[in-house]
Amino acid sequence: MPTWTPHRILFRDDEIAQISINLGYSLIGSTPSHMLILGLPGTGKTATVLFVINKLKEKIRAENIEDVLISYTISGRTSYSTLVELASDIDIYLPTRGYSFKEAWKKFKEEIRDKIFIAVIDEIDLLILNGGRDILYYLSRTPKMSIIGISNILNVLDLIKDPRVRSSFSPQILVFNKYNAEQLRGILEDRVKEAFYSGVVEEGAIALSSALSAQRGGDARFALDLMLKAGEKAVIEGKDKIDESLIYDVVDDVETLHVKRAIEKLPLAHRYLLSIIAANQGLSPSEIYEIYNRNAPSPLTRRRLSSFLSELELFGIIRIERRGRGRGRGIEYSVFLTEPQLKRMLEDISLS
Ligand SMILES: Nc1ncnc2c1ncn2[C@@H]1O[C@H](COP(=O)(O)OP(=O)(O)OP(=O)(O)O)[C@@H](O)[C@H]1O
Ligand SMILES: [Mg+2]
Repeated sequence: MPTWTPHRILFRDDEIAQISINLGYSLIGSTPSHMLILGLPGTGKTATVLFVINKLKEKIRAENIEDVLISYTISGRTSYSTLVELASDIDIYLPTRGYSFKEAWKKFKEEIRDKIFIAVIDEIDLLILNGGRDILYYLSRTPKMSIIGISNILNVLDLIKDPRVRSSFSPQILVFNKYNAEQLRGILEDRVKEAFYSGVVEEGAIALSSALSAQRGGDARFALDLMLKAGEKAVIEGKDKIDESLIYDVVDDVETLHVKRAIEKLPLAHRYLLSIIAANQGLSPSEIYEIYNRNAPSPLTRRRLSSFLSELELFGIIRIERRGRGRGRGIEYSVFLTEPQLKRMLEDISLS
């Protein structure tokens, strides 16, 4: 399963060292720098960071260090819910409703007192897209607090529109490069040893999965999912070997699963926008604007809509074609889905 924590992290020694050095300052009473960990999906960001913070927590426990707190959460949809999650990870229980963010923050700060607090916020782009600036603002402004953000949107900082947050959150940036086929093969071999009886998975199946995943942006999760689905299919069909043909059989399903996951994470307005684009390929932004506001539960300004469009383009889900209309007559924009099979998928995803 992709959620299983590996015993060791391969090919990320430099990244582990950089994160450890920064977080390690907390052990000598200094506050770590804010950090932003970036990289395409499945490049091992979450696995690596969890690996480092688990080691750090072990050390903190072993040495009875009392003035360092580390908390990890996947970003919530709001500042409030993200704060509640960060707090509960260190056994501080804030009420989930009835408070304003400021009140909850005040209560949280009283509990932390003057300890060093490291907030690891995974998938931080979701928080930013949903307008969760309060928590970033407060965390980045408070002495002895440090934000470790993780995102697979490489220019996630561009999504931060609030000038107050922009000026107080200037993190150290660490980029995880994508894995090549050779590295994916190493990761897969390691995992296959844990997950299957020996001799079940053929060499060729591992090589093929690594090559396919390397083509798909060096995504280790894709490689692991191929192996998982092939394993499931082998069980259903009563086969006792996983070979190349089984991998080929599951590629389409795994592909669909991955795009679906990416879309389901988007905020409602973005998904709504996508459903309009899917139904009408090649529309101009003004046409989309009209359809959106004719039907959507809450209307948007042109500006918001155009920033949503650029965000979707950033995610790689849509493609905006720009064509000159001839001298002095401006540019014409048309919006398309990047992959034709997205259309079918979008029809399956509920808009609630
Ligand atoms: N270097 C590695 N060694 C061992 N396993 C790895 C390594 N890199 C990734 N994995 C495994 O691959 C899967 C995906 O990795 P991970 O969840 O860390 O990716 P990510 O960069 O956080 O992706 P996303 O941006 O989509 O959240 C996980 O199951 C993880 O355990
Ligand atoms: Mg992750």
